[in-house]
Amino acid sequence: MNKGIRQIKVDLAERSYAILLGENILPECVAGLKEFCREEEVFLVSDTLVYGYYGKELERLLAQEGYRAVTYLIEPGESSKSWAVAEKILDYMLEKNLSRKTPLLALGGGVVGDLTGFVAALYRRGVPLIQIPTTLLAQVDSSVGGKVAVNHPHGKNMLGTFYQPRAVWADLCTLETLNLREWRAGLAEVLKYALLWDKEFFVYLEEQAEQILQKNPSVLLAVIERCIRIKAEIVQQDERDEGLRNVLNLGHTIGHALEKATDFQQYRHGEAVAIGLRAVFKLAEKMGMITQEGRQRVEELMQTWGLPLTLPAAVLADVLGLLKFDKKVEGKELLFILPVELGKVAVQKGIGEEVVEQVLQEML
Ligand SMILES: NC(=O)c1ccc[n+]([C@@H]2O[C@H](COP(=O)([O-])OP(=O)(O)OC[C@H]3O[C@@H](n4cnc5c(N)ncnc54)[C@H](O)[C@@H]3O)[C@@H](O)[C@H]2O)c1
Ligand SMILES: [Zn+2]
Repeated sequence: MNKGIRQIKVDLAERSYAILLGENILPECVAGLKEFCREEEVFLVSDTLVYGYYGKELERLLAQEGYRAVTYLIEPGESSKSWAVAEKILDYMLEKNLSRKTPLLALGGGVVGDLTGFVAALYRRGVPLIQIPTTLLAQVDSSVGGKVAVNHPHGKNMLGTFYQPRAVWADLCTLETLNLREWRAGLAEVLKYALLWDKEFFVYLEEQAEQILQKNPSVLLAVIERCIRIKAEIVQQDERDEGLRNVLNLGHTIGHALEKATDFQQYRHGEAVAIGLRAVFKLAEKMGMITQEGRQRVEELMQTWGLPLTLPAAVLADVLGLLKFDKKVEGKELLFILPVELGKVAVQKGIGEEVVEQVLQEML
């Protein structure tokens, strides 16, 4: 294998798989497909935007290795992550009479990945899935760990399952066309990993903050690899989200409420998470769990990266209302994942609504 390719194994017994990461690795990944796929046909799902950048080249690489790609394109955006679109894709696969062994290739961000994974889990009780994530968020988060889903009018990710891919091919080159807003949104999740798991990684992010913004390839490789390793380690210990995996929701309780309060229209997921991260650090500081200096360091890095730090006054009441009804409300207590130091978190129950309100007020 090319020395430039990093390989990260996700160890889940018979569902184990490798995540391949590097620059311009897709030719080699496609060449290696024959090791676990003897079909002549592959089914490629992408959105029109991502396909415009990388689809033809991927089809060419597939053809070069003797594969015929059947391609299905969706509209870019969260609204494609629906039951209706999943059904259309399934109809199309049945019309094309794709076999149970035909691999599904998901080329795109988290929307394409979650939707294609959902379809892969359903089609003839499951076909091989390969994730080819093209956003920073998808490379460090959504393509790893096997959560697949579509949205429903009753809520986000309401229909879904756990379905591990057979491989993940994360090519840094596909990130070049990502716009700054999506880039920053991904950085919020990168920061989340450091804050919940690895202080040394946080220090590295501080030191390399500018290089990361400028997409320096060797720094990026190190950053993305570290995030994937952290997520893989957590997923290995708690594949089905029954305990430890919950720490990945650092900053998400408030983040999700904010997304919901704004009808998923105003914020990218990562932007809402950034605001949520700031809030839990303020909360932890108030409760004496973390120092002022620690909280300020996090805010400084967020500022350097241009992540949002404030909450619009108009949504405060809605966010508070949603937090009260949050599914994590256990017995009348609010449950939060809070930092106890940089790189370490704990689940905290019994946090008074007044403290949460006070923190959010300070963030207006
Ligand atoms: N399964 C999981 O564990 C998990 C974890 C986190 C998030 N998610 C899901 O991921 C989704 C969000 O993912 P996302 O942020 O990647 O959004 P996305 O897939 O909507 O991509 C964002 C935008 O960027 C465009 N894009 C993608 N790659 C590009 C590229 N290389 N160059 C230029 N433009 C590109 C897309 O067309 C889209 O318009 C949400 O639905 C969320 O629920 C899932
Ligand atoms: Zn997230």
